[in-house]
Amino acid sequence: MSETDYLLENRNTEAAQRFTALSALFNPGTLRQFDACGMTAGWRCWEVGAGGPALARMIAERVGQAGRVLATDIDDSWAKEAATRNVEVRKHDVARDPPPDELFDLVHARLVLVHVPERERAFRNMISALKPGGWLVVEDADPALQPLSCIDPYGAEQELANRIRSGFRALLSNRGADLSFGRKLPRMFREAGLADMAAEAYFPIALPECVPLEIATIKMIRSDLLSHGIVADDEIEQHLENVRAGMLDLSQPPMISVRGRKPSSPVHGR
Ligand SMILES: C[S@@+](CC[C@H](N)C(=O)[O-])C[C@H]1O[C@@H](n2cnc3c(N)ncnc32)[C@H](O)[C@@H]1O
Repeated sequence: MSETDYLLENRNTEAAQRFTALSALFNPGTLRQFDACGMTAGWRCWEVGAGGPALARMIAERVGQAGRVLATDIDDSWAKEAATRNVEVRKHDVARDPPPDELFDLVHARLVLVHVPERERAFRNMISALKPGGWLVVEDADPALQPLSCIDPYGAEQELANRIRSGFRALLSNRGADLSFGRKLPRMFREAGLADMAAEAYFPIALPECVPLEIATIKMIRSDLLSHGIVADDEIEQHLENVRAGMLDLSQPPMISVRGRKPSSPVHGR
């Protein structure tokens, strides 16, 4: 996938709002994963497909000045403002570029692999950058498990929301996203020989943080929704009005979070 193939392309003006919304919704769960791995001062961490600056900053706070964060993305323009003494931001394609020339205590990617057609290679690249005993944390949605925007479609507003969400999924799928990827992660971890594997899902049903995420996402994909004939312009306006008016209980697909550590002896894929 080239940079321009990525549907939610970061240069879009709504990217910053979308990254802020993703962080508000998902950072607390991600930090719980890091706690479960024992993240502490002095750790060296690689944040893959960082998107915005918020999570890289939070990791930097946890690892302190003795630690290090490398935040990479195919478009590093949004994470750049996180750069500081212990945070390096770099443009990097996790599948196509060689992994960084250093080893990490923790490598994390959230909502990245689902979009990367060469996800197996990206996964191997992340494992190869782990120290023996280092943790891999991968989090990806599984929209095929729960594809609806409104899980209780009791009226026309909810049906419109679901039609738009279904169009969004089709656009993602056309660009190579695997919409049932999240469920495959535990198997990938086991087959790669990662130890202490644990997996769980976080499933927002109607959280206030889902509202800004929906608005930013719809604005970003608006022209694609129109050019593919998925909805008309006035329907998008109506949907945005419904969202802002608080008429919808907006849901997100389950976010599947998986962690596992590299054993001291070599594992598959290195
Ligand atoms: C949905 S956003 C998620 C951003 C962030 N991880 C989060 O959860 O808030 C996906 C991110 O992955 C990046 N990305 C997509 N393909 C990538 C690749 N092959 N290598 C590195 N980053 C990639 C995008 O540029 C974007 O910033």
